[in-house]
Amino acid sequence: MIKLISALVALANVAPLAYSADAEEVPPQPSAVHTEATAPHYPLKHPKELDWSFAGFTGHYDKQQLQRGLKIYTEVCSACHSMKMVAYRSLSDLGYSDEQVKAFAADHEVQDGPDANGEMYTRKAVPSDYFPSPFANAEAAAASNNGAVPPDFSLIAKARGITRGFPQFLIDMLPGVGYQEGGPDYIYSLLTGYDETPPAGFEIAEGTNYNPYFAHSAALAMPKPISDDQVTYEDGSPQTVDQYARDVSAFLMWAAEPHLEERKRTGFMVMVFLIIFSGLIYLTKRSVYSDKR
Ligand code: HEC
Repeated sequence: MIKLISALVALANVAPLAYSADAEEVPPQPSAVHTEATAPHYPLKHPKELDWSFAGFTGHYDKQQLQRGLKIYTEVCSACHSMKMVAYRSLSDLGYSDEQVKAFAADHEVQDGPDANGEMYTRKAVPSDYFPSPFANAEAAAASNNGAVPPDFSLIAKARGITRGFPQFLIDMLPGVGYQEGGPDYIYSLLTGYDETPPAGFEIAEGTNYNPYFAHSAALAMPKPISDDQVTYEDGSPQTVDQYARDVSAFLMWAAEPHLEERKRTGFMVMVFLIIFSGLIYLTKRSVYSDKR
């Protein structure tokens, strides 16, 4: 019995770590210095709630949007953020053919080895490779980013679900109907939140940038990463920070939960099954006990 309890305690300690992939590599972050007597509650502003195509029972990813999001990640975010758990081959989910995935992978280089001489070498990526990391290790990443490590993107959309306040959080506790789009809402709000001016009384630590949507403080080490017209869209979508932020947030949701559509479909079928099954059980009960009045 004691063994069982200690095993459970160990599990409880390990589980959250396994979920937040970036937990082990985040050193103490520089934060804003505030002069008020009481510590403010972060984030200063609640993320904006957007209409996502993947919300709700029949939610599905907009492949065109995911392709645009991949473009933003590749051209902008991948300079600092890794995405270690996503393989090139899974890009076929975004509507790309095998040939296109091969060609996309071949545009990138990964480290391999050791070769016969014991040396590591770089080669063109193939579909079975995972997205390469921009920095060799967390220390190198921190050194180039003012002491803060850009978190890995594989699970970021799931790791930053800001709880909604009263009364919505009561509904969110119920299984099946809870709000699951808090992560992409957060990423969208963070990316579009750099232009706001800090309220009086806030002193922002050097090397950090004010952003009222940042979860842990009033300012973060990441400078505004993207501005209007920075990335060219071929499908005629607006080239604005707003659109870029929507697209990359949707893409990160896909990266964190590639099987979302399947999960929702299965959940829906289970609910239909349970409703029919309850009806059958009720009829069975009526027929079994019909002579026992
Ligand atoms: C110049 C490097 C750089 C680029 C480019 C960059 N980031 Fe960051 N990002 C950072 C750093 C550094 C942090 C950690 C900030 C901190 O904790 O103070 C960060 C943190 C984040 C976070 C997590 C915030 C949190 O709650 O912990 C998100 C989300 C994010 N970046 C999204 C993006 C997106 C999306 C892009 C591409 C559009 C992008 N970043 C481009 C450096 C970068």
